[in-house]
Amino acid sequence: MNDGSAVDAGNPYSAGSDRLEVQGITVHFGGLLALDDVSLTAGSRQVTGIIGPNGAGKTTLLNVLCGFVRPAAGVVSFGGQELRRIRPHHLAKMGIARTLQGIGLFSGLSVIENVMIGATSLAKAGFWSGLLGLPRSDADEQRLRDHSQQALELVGIGDYADAMPDTLAHGQRKRVALARALAARPRLLLLDEPASGLAESELAELGDLITSLAQQCTVVVIEHRMDLMMSVCEQIFVLDFGKVIASGTPEQVQANPAVTAAYLGTDVTQAPSEFGSLASTDANEAAPGSGRGASW
Ligand SMILES: Nc1ncnc2c1ncn2[C@@H]1O[C@H](COP(=O)(O)OP(=O)(O)OP(=O)(O)O)[C@@H](O)[C@H]1O
Ligand SMILES: [Mg+2]
Repeated sequence: MNDGSAVDAGNPYSAGSDRLEVQGITVHFGGLLALDDVSLTAGSRQVTGIIGPNGAGKTTLLNVLCGFVRPAAGVVSFGGQELRRIRPHHLAKMGIARTLQGIGLFSGLSVIENVMIGATSLAKAGFWSGLLGLPRSDADEQRLRDHSQQALELVGIGDYADAMPDTLAHGQRKRVALARALAARPRLLLLDEPASGLAESELAELGDLITSLAQQCTVVVIEHRMDLMMSVCEQIFVLDFGKVIASGTPEQVQANPAVTAAYLGTDVTQAPSEFGSLASTDANEAAPGSGRGASW
């Protein structure tokens, strides 16, 4: 069993009903072992980070939590309840929302309509029936629209509600995707590389936003931008070749030579002790598909 003990029972923040527990998750893609007996815990209303080199299995783990990938073994529990046979279309009802590693907006829908999709689980009727031309409740749709507008304002792009996604800058589109996840009012928010493609100047604001979201829900964030992770995460788990190789506070993880070695693709004994010097480079600048030895 891998190390899943970073958030211990003695930590007051990890107690409570919205704790995520992942136990012994194993995923095979044909002959590839993408996740190998992965266990971790995300404390209730904490920000928990997952880092690791390209191809380490981070997105696959999120896909398991969302029911997109069925593990060969392992158990996921949230709020003390085992999540059996997670289905993507049940996520909102289960209080789980995610953003995708890409942006994943519908280009034919306006910004607010994209966000309303995330909020439809809160509606009795309306948006979908509207799209399908079915009878609908105008009051319900207005409620959905107001609610979605609030989500847009929360992420700082309330003025762009009627814009089409393709007309927005990359950073703004990322915010729309985040607003869509928030519109479901999740108890568990899963963020896959929320900072990818953002300028350095946008990171502090994103960090503040993620920190503030953890007052309302449990947040799991995958990210290569270590400067962001250092500032927002209470705990970080490090994946490498599908295994948890380290976990702890950002400082503990940063000081762990095995983590540096995983990123550099070197033997631990050859890895430099200064991990922080790798921290500011965006993984997106690495060649697509590059893995071991790629920059952060
Ligand atoms: N649907 C799939 N079918 C086959 N192989 C897959 C599939 N999804 C992921 N993989 C493989 O599983 C491994 C883990 O991929 P994953 O996308 O989880 O990595 P990651 O840690 O998110 O990487 P990155 O930082 O580049 O996003 C990789 O070798 C990847 O090629
Ligand atoms: Mg990924």
